[in-house]
Amino acid sequence: MEQTFIMIKPDGVQRGLVGEIISRFEKKGFTLKGLKLQTVEQSFAEKHYEDLATKPFFSGLVEYIISGPVVAMIWEGKGVVATGRKIIGATNPAASEPGTIRGDFAIHVGRNVIHGSDSVESATKEIGLWFPDGPN
Ligand code: RTP
Ligand code: MG
Repeated sequence: MEQTFIMIKPDGVQRGLVGEIISRFEKKGFTLKGLKLQTVEQSFAEKHYEDLATKPFFSGLVEYIISGPVVAMIWEGKGVVATGRKIIGATNPAASEPGTIRGDFAIHVGRNVIHGSDSVESATKEIGLWFPDGPN
C-alpha cells in the first residue's frame, strides 16, 4: 500500500495545529502508520531538503525547520502521495486554495506549516530518513 511522509513544521506545532492536521488526514480515510515529535539538527534538515541546496532560500529553510520540534508522520492509503499534496495545498500560501491546510492556516511561504512528499520515490526516501528503524 502506498505511503507518504508528512511533517508538521515548527510553526504548525507551536500554533497548536497538530490535532487539526491529523484530523484532516484521518477523516479523508488515510491510516496513520508512524508518528513522533522530534527536533532535528542542521545536518539532518539539510539532508531532508538536499534537492533544494542551491536555492537562495535554502539556509533560511533549514533554520526554520530546526527552530523547534516537528511532528513526523507516515500516512498510508490509495494515492496518499498525490492526495496528501492536495490536502496540504500549494507551496506558497498566497496561492493555496481555501480548504487546504496551507490555504486555511498560512500566509507566508517561509512559514507554511507542513511538508508532504512530492512523489512515491521521495516518500520512500524520506520515510527511510525519518524512520530508519521502521514506523516507531
Ligand atoms: P515541502 O517540501 O515543504 O512540502 O514544500 P513544497 O514541496 O510545497 O515546496 P518545495 O519547493 O519543496 O520547497 C520546500 C519548502 O521551502 C520553502 N520555500 N521557501 N521562495 C521561498 O522563499 C521559498 N520557496 C520554498 C517552503 O517552506 C517550502 O515548503
Ligand atoms: Mg517539497
